[in-house]
Amino acid sequence: MYLLQLVILLWTVQSHFGDDFSPRQDLLFPELVRYDGYSAEEYFVTTIDGYILRIFRIPPNKNCTTNKGTLLFAHGLFLSSDDCIVLGPGRSHCYIYSDNCYDVWVCVLNVRGNVYSRNHTYYDPDKDLEYWQFSFDDIAIYDLSAVIDHILNATGREQLSYVAHSQGATILLILCAKRPEYNAKIIIGIGLSTTAWLYHATFLVLRLQSAVASLLTAFSGVLSGEIFPRGGVSQKGAELLCGSTNLTYPLCSYSIFTLFGYDGYQITSDALPVIVGHTPAGTSLKNFNRWGSVARDGFREYDYGPLKNIDVYGQTKPPEYTLGNVNMKWVMISAPIDNVGTVQDIKYLVTKLPNASLCVISTNEFTHLDYVYGKDINKYIIPIVFSAIESGTYTCT
Ligand SMILES: *[C@@H]1O[C@H](CO)[C@@H](O)[C@H](O)[C@H]1NC(C)=O
Ligand SMILES: *[C@@H]1O[C@H](CO)[C@@H](O)[C@H](O)[C@H]1NC(C)=O
Ligand SMILES: *[C@@H]1O[C@H](CO)[C@@H](O)[C@H](O)[C@H]1NC(C)=O
Ligand SMILES: *[C@@H]1O[C@H](CO)[C@@H](O)[C@H](O)[C@H]1NC(C)=O
Ligand SMILES: *[C@@H]1O[C@H](CO)[C@@H](O)[C@H](O)[C@H]1NC(C)=O
Repeated sequence: MYLLQLVILLWTVQSHFGDDFSPRQDLLFPELVRYDGYSAEEYFVTTIDGYILRIFRIPPNKNCTTNKGTLLFAHGLFLSSDDCIVLGPGRSHCYIYSDNCYDVWVCVLNVRGNVYSRNHTYYDPDKDLEYWQFSFDDIAIYDLSAVIDHILNATGREQLSYVAHSQGATILLILCAKRPEYNAKIIIGIGLSTTAWLYHATFLVLRLQSAVASLLTAFSGVLSGEIFPRGGVSQKGAELLCGSTNLTYPLCSYSIFTLFGYDGYQITSDALPVIVGHTPAGTSLKNFNRWGSVARDGFREYDYGPLKNIDVYGQTKPPEYTLGNVNMKWVMISAPIDNVGTVQDIKYLVTKLPNASLCVISTNEFTHLDYVYGKDINKYIIPIVFSAIESGTYTCT
């Protein structure tokens, strides 16, 4: 609740500051990519349950003479495609991959409910609560499969490489567990702080989610709708905190820290206004609560509540996902002070996967959001990604 108060307080404070925002701050994906001197294409993919997703492609840098293959970047919860471009050329994932001659698709896995993919063949996201009845299980099975198939068909390739942050990696685990034929479509997956088991996560919001999970599950029929939309209260609050001057910067750091696990080492003050101009990007309450049940009960299938679980699974507690099916190659990257995807939990996940290796990066300055927003991704993350994709393996020293 104090967060809400903070946001309201800051909203009031906003009027005292001018709007000296970065010109990149409010541009949407295609415009921002063009502003940065690259080209972007956009495609619509319709899932079998009617959700219309928007995905983007950034072709290899024009200076490239080879095309090193198709690479799909998948963002995390509350985030969007913009994660892989916000810091700009030379600093953000997708530009670095394009400069290195990869055909980059941003699975913008602008997953359903996110700012770019609020669209459906018959539901209206602004009016129909049915639209918001989804969790990451649906995102994995319907959205990710449709996006992968679309990209492989469009490029005429049989496989792609997958780089994913947080929930972006979780959904490929679920897809391959439930539909193992998708293993063969992926050359290798690189998981940046993959969220599966969260027993050691100390992140405040997750602990709160965990505490209210049963309650929200009990009321899931009544409780639905959207949470943290782009342009909503949380973003307005973040913008006014982080968009203006050095005066509000400490407060900004504090609130971003509380909400999203920001640490203050890796996110530079010039990047902050652009990041908050693009974050958060919305999801459903149902998906928000889904993470609460993961934090409490582990990486298990959807929890319908004890009675319906007996119908669906034959037991009161949902079973764990069958990770033995996920035999595609993975390199799972974790960092010692990440308070969401912790080293202990990711290490445990790796023991459950037949074909995964763990890489703990050697810095005490990297937390959950730094994998996409940190100033040192070129130093800590990118070399691992290229080595993993190009040699099919990475040995973490
Ligand atoms: C291509 O290379 C030239 C010379 O190195 C450079 O000036 C230019 O910015 C590059 N173009 C792109 C799109 O990166
Ligand atoms: C929703 O999708 C339809 C069909 O692809 C498209 O014509 C329309 O512009 C989209 N609406 C939004 C708000 O993206
Ligand atoms: C695959 O791509 C071709 C053209 O490249 C298109 O005509 C066809 O509809 C696509 N199929 C699917 C399932 O998207
Ligand atoms: C913020 O601080 C930096 C140095 O720390 C300075 O260069 C910059 O001019 C300051 N900006 C404002 C708006 O005060
Ligand atoms: C690991 O993945 C590689 C490449 O996808 C595959 O050839 C190999 O059979 C897999 N190994 C296991 C143990 O599943």
